[in-house]
Amino acid sequence: MCGIVGYIGEQSTKDFIIDGLKKLEYRGYDSAGVFLFDSKGYLKKCKGKVADLEKKMDDDNLSSCTIGMGHTRWATHGIPNTKNSHPHVSNNGKIFIVHNGIIENYASIKQILIEKGYTFQSETDTEVLVNLIEEVKKSNPELKIGKATQIALNQVVGAFAIVVFDKDSPNELVVAKLGSPLAIGLKGKDFFVGSDPSPFIKETNRCLYLNDYELAILSRKKGLTLRDFRTNRVKDQKIEKLKLQIEQVEKGGFKHFMLKEIFEQPKCINDSLRGRIFSNPAKIKISSVEEYWEKFKKSNRLIFISCGTSWHASLLGEYYFEELARIPVEVEYASEFRYRNPIIYKDDIVIPVSQSGETADTIAALKLAKEMSAFIYGICNVVGSSIARETHTGIYTHAGPEIGVASTKAFTCQAVTMLIIATEIGYKLKKITKSKYSEIIDGVQNLSDNVKKILKKSNKVEEIAKKYSKSKNFLYLGRGYNFPVALEGALKLKEISYIHAEGYPAAEMKHGPIALIDKNMPVVVVATKKGNYKKIVSNVMEIKARGGKVISIVTEGDKEIKKISDDFIEIPECHELISPILANIPLQLLSYYIADFKGCSIDQPRNLAKSVTVE
Ligand code: F6R
Repeated sequence: MCGIVGYIGEQSTKDFIIDGLKKLEYRGYDSAGVFLFDSKGYLKKCKGKVADLEKKMDDDNLSSCTIGMGHTRWATHGIPNTKNSHPHVSNNGKIFIVHNGIIENYASIKQILIEKGYTFQSETDTEVLVNLIEEVKKSNPELKIGKATQIALNQVVGAFAIVVFDKDSPNELVVAKLGSPLAIGLKGKDFFVGSDPSPFIKETNRCLYLNDYELAILSRKKGLTLRDFRTNRVKDQKIEKLKLQIEQVEKGGFKHFMLKEIFEQPKCINDSLRGRIFSNPAKIKISSVEEYWEKFKKSNRLIFISCGTSWHASLLGEYYFEELARIPVEVEYASEFRYRNPIIYKDDIVIPVSQSGETADTIAALKLAKEMSAFIYGICNVVGSSIARETHTGIYTHAGPEIGVASTKAFTCQAVTMLIIATEIGYKLKKITKSKYSEIIDGVQNLSDNVKKILKKSNKVEEIAKKYSKSKNFLYLGRGYNFPVALEGALKLKEISYIHAEGYPAAEMKHGPIALIDKNMPVVVVATKKGNYKKIVSNVMEIKARGGKVISIVTEGDKEIKKISDDFIEIPECHELISPILANIPLQLLSYYIADFKGCSIDQPRNLAKSVTVE
């Protein structure tokens, strides 16, 4: 969590730093701060969002500052207040730092520094690191800031992406990374730094992603030098050309990123499928599956590891892979898996699933599985992310940048991707017939148009949302393929509207949750045709018999459930395996509109951050 930016070059940098922080606010928004340098240095920070910081800087003339760093925080050590905000400064007032990550051994280092006379203004681990750098320099005054930072980093344990500036070296910025992401944008004599490239994409598409253990010195005089901070070995600079467009990281006329991302889904689905699915003859082609076919062919078990929404997509993946490929699947919370001495057999395939590719628990679980010799196949959205780089192979979901903290299009693209992989493996293993294979391919090809049809009915969902926006609790029910969708619908509602919601397999209702049902309890029932339709009709009757309010998601043309529901939303008739993906779309809209009626901070819900880079 936390977003960091930096700049050194020939341009005035205030606007870049502020705009860049706004682009990274999805990573945290408890407090914000900047340090800008001309010949003196300007430090400003405050509790709250970047816009609050910007207001405080309004009257300050900063046009001569051509070096800078900024930070938007998701609090770990210390409450969100001005003192704990970054940038932090060392005791001698010369060294400044912004940091994303956690220094795990900060307490023992702090104690040593206190014994040497250092004082601390904040409760943060970051202030300990900046003073450790000062101490390294003090004990060897010959050292320049790059080397001092390098020595200090070899003494800390934890995760970090940092930007460091020292008034004694006013023509340099130092950046380094271990665990947390960091990207450098290059344009002539200008260097831009960001937790991801979104802050600098409008300036340059030339990007260097730092790898773990790399430290770069960005110098006005010597350009960029890159080293391994453990060995001091100079590293090759692998500069990539980014395909990201500035429009992808802006709201494009929508009130919120979340709404924009919901409406982008027809396009994202096509992006996920491009080059992977063909008609006449119907065919799926997934190069990573082809390349590693021997592994899939002999796999005895697939283990999905993921968190949050990605875990819900993984659960849907379980239903898909077991149905189509007949391979047993386990779905694990990454945070549990990593700490419970899991059993991994020789022919297991471990599948981390992640939008950001930076989720700390998923990375740790993946690394553990790798140490245990598992073959790792990643399903990831962010290109070049840590998870993408740690896996043996895998597939990108191509949902594009997801900025709203609540995941929407990423879930859809994860589900679509899993469905086509499971279908392809099932067909290759001869577990499904040619006609089933073709039917699914057909269904997937119509998916984008069917999502468009649902989005056209967003007004109806908005009306329903208004009616229920004052409810205090919701229950979400689904059976079979629709069970993961019920879980995801409930998560979406609680995270952006702060309304308590629970997802359950519909039949489990009578084992407890039914006690909650009364006239004040809206129950969202995902009740699409096929599968266990008749059974879900009975569940709806049970809710109605107890006075509950039913909002159902039904298939167009449905008669039975519509009749007994208080409100309903229709989705187009489609293949049974596709229907959970479609049914999820109105649930995204429902939670969005409820949160909007409540006036919630939809793109930046309280206490959350987009990528959870701490455990
Ligand atoms: C919910 C949400 C989170 C993430 C979870 C995993 O809307 O976004 O639950 O799904 O933090 O994140 P990734 O997929 O980036 O690993």
